Amino acid sequence: MSVIQVHDKQFTPYINADKLQARIQELAAAISNDLKGEKPLFIAILNGSFMFAADMFKYLTIEAEISFIKLASYKGMKSTGNVVQAIGLDEDLFGRTVVILEDIVDTGKTLSQFLPQLEHQQPKKLLVTSLLTKPEAMKFPIKIDYLGFSVPNKFLLGYGLDYDGLGRNLPEIYQLVENA
Ligand code: HPA
Ligand code: MG
Repeated sequence: MSVIQVHDKQFTPYINADKLQARIQELAAAISNDLKGEKPLFIAILNGSFMFAADMFKYLTIEAEISFIKLASYKGMKSTGNVVQAIGLDEDLFGRTVVILEDIVDTGKTLSQFLPQLEHQQPKKLLVTSLLTKPEAMKFPIKIDYLGFSVPNKFLLGYGLDYDGLGRNLPEIYQLVENA
């Protein structure tokens, strides 16, 4: 098999480009059907979601807007623990249909902190789309309205996902070879 090496680790092909694109087309079709006439605002969470967001957005057949944000996590006061701050979110969400685009939801921690901040702005709807999720890793349950693939709790690479900065450009998803 076509094993690749990134930094010190080896990875094998896990979800090929055709399968990814086919699934993303299905998600885009479902969203286009469900949100017809709502002019949804997609909020893509960088860095990981950039490739998924670009493909998803191309497959949509409805009018829609997209905005790209980064989430910065910093230590809050002792009582509040970590706090997530959105960088680059300029849109007013009041009364809007909002669709979050994530590459992967694993523990759910970041979204569990971020979604309430968005709800605070009183969007009409707040939906979550994620290409991937790892149910075994989920500690803060997040309702994913549109999900690409449910995967085991193993490290993945490619199609936006990185290993220490590298591998995001791979057009398919690879899985870590353990004990290699
Ligand atoms: N790979 C890369 N980045 C990630 C992963 C993963 O499996 N899970 C959460 N961030
Ligand atoms: Mg990363």
